[in-house]
Amino acid sequence: MNLHPVDFRTLTPEIFQVFGTQNALLTAGDRNGCNTMTIGWCQLGRLWSIPVCTVYVRPERYTYQFMESHDYFTISVMPLSHKQTTMQVCGTQSGRDINKIKECGLTLRYGAGDAPFFDEAEWVLVCKKLYAQDLNENCVLQGENILRHYGAKGGWHRVYTGEVVEAYTK
Ligand SMILES: Cc1cc2nc3c(=O)[nH]c(=O)nc-3n(C[C@H](O)[C@H](O)[C@H](O)COP(=O)(O)O)c2cc1C
Repeated sequence: MNLHPVDFRTLTPEIFQVFGTQNALLTAGDRNGCNTMTIGWCQLGRLWSIPVCTVYVRPERYTYQFMESHDYFTISVMPLSHKQTTMQVCGTQSGRDINKIKECGLTLRYGAGDAPFFDEAEWVLVCKKLYAQDLNENCVLQGENILRHYGAKGGWHRVYTGEVVEAYTK
């Protein structure tokens, strides 16, 4: 096993660098079944006086069903060497059509709440869902960088904010 649990307060990830280059795998489900997909949108910080992680999932993703039906989700930040392989496959193929985890040769591990993550990651956060809400076109104040992501490109994302309950690193 590569990854071991650490106190998340000791993590100092370069968030603005990670998201946009390495990105992450968002995974939800449990030992009976799960799905993963590449995400490029994510925030980490503090909300309601606790450490949180926020992710954005379009309703048409297969992963959305797992996000809805399970209490936990994880983000696994993979090494840059996975960019053209794992991250490409998991960001363009649907778990409805192929078993992405098997296809990419990823090793499943399980954290709090049986939440699945990947041993090949550089670091992982396990999060317990606290809050979910759909982004809403009526709330857009400056559409220039927002509206181009919708329409033909797909439905408005559901925002999931989870409490960070565990972290793992090498
Ligand atoms: C770099 C990159 C970032 C992505 N970020 C997101 C994201 O933040 N939210 C989202 O809903 N889809 C995102 N996607 C698209 C999903 O990863 C993609 O549609 C995936 O095939 C969905 O798989 P699924 O149907 O198995 O859930 C991203 C794709 C790529 C390549």
